[in-house]
Amino acid sequence: MKILGIETSCDETAAAVVEDGVKILSSEISSQVELHARYGGIVPEVASRQHILSIIPVISKTMNEAHIGWHGLDGIAVTNGPGLAGSLLVGTSVAKAIATVKELPLTSINHLEAHIYANWLSSQKPAFPLLCLIVSGGHSDLVLMRDHGDYTILGRTRDDAAGEAFDKAARILGLGYPGGPAIDREAVKGTASINLPRALLKGTCDFSFSGLKTALFRLVENGKINNTADAAASFQQAIVDVLVPKTIAAARQHCVKQILLSGGVAANRGLRQRLVKDSPIPVLIPEPILCTDNAAMVAACGFFHFQADKINGLNMDVIPGLKLS
Ligand code: KG4
Ligand code: ZN
Repeated sequence: MKILGIETSCDETAAAVVEDGVKILSSEISSQVELHARYGGIVPEVASRQHILSIIPVISKTMNEAHIGWHGLDGIAVTNGPGLAGSLLVGTSVAKAIATVKELPLTSINHLEAHIYANWLSSQKPAFPLLCLIVSGGHSDLVLMRDHGDYTILGRTRDDAAGEAFDKAARILGLGYPGGPAIDREAVKGTASINLPRALLKGTCDFSFSGLKTALFRLVENGKINNTADAAASFQQAIVDVLVPKTIAAARQHCVKQILLSGGVAANRGLRQRLVKDSPIPVLIPEPILCTDNAAMVAACGFFHFQADKINGLNMDVIPGLKLS
């Protein structure tokens, strides 16, 4: 079964063709990073306008590279939330148009669910029950998954998401936007020598990163930081020191067979290395390009939706605050 995936929830316009939920035939991503960098963050109206310009070229390129022709497709999967309403509307409208003209079934995808399914694109396949740590710009969720489509949220962030914390810390340190990759690059040049707080929130699977961000801000404000690389390394380590032990503890408690990592922050080298090193339970992490937003993960997830007969009508709406349940 060959599925065309479409992703426009935030600032990446992406399309991909994936076979049987596991094999990428083609994948295109048009990033708006440079467009938003001058504003220091994503401007929603600018994002939706750019999606309008990019979506058709991105889909055409993906279809050409898949070499299967439109008749070779079996369905369309599109992200309908969570995300920016104007951006989601571009992808869902185009998906509905293609589904109508090409007479293909359509399925709507939760962006967080798609991040989890990026792991099915790895050479090794996930085994249930599993625990997934989703760490992105808007979420830090610990999700127990007993089967396809069966999600229990064990914990989430009470304030800033991990990616949001990385982005804010990079701004505080003058490292620019997007912050996560900038801190990751800077951290390898420094040592984690600066004392920063870790909110462990014992007895829960929840996270909190706003105190850490404020602590860094105070140090910078008081002129206590004179080495940006050390500050980046210390900040990254403080985040990893919370994410890794809490994930392993939850995995042990629920006797899972595997731990998955996903979302943009899963591209972080410090986090990847530490989780693999510390976990007694097998860990799966997608390659970095499949951690950040892409449409291959949407198409992979779409395959499992079609297997479960989850098909949407053309009245499918966008849900900017969509939850994983
Ligand atoms: O999943 P994603 O691409 O978009 C959302 O769904 O939010 O995640 C974006 C987030 C941003 O906050 C970005 O700074 C962070 O992921 N990120 C990273 C790295 N690459 C992206 N954070 C830390 N280290 C990285 N290498
Ligand atoms: Zn994402």
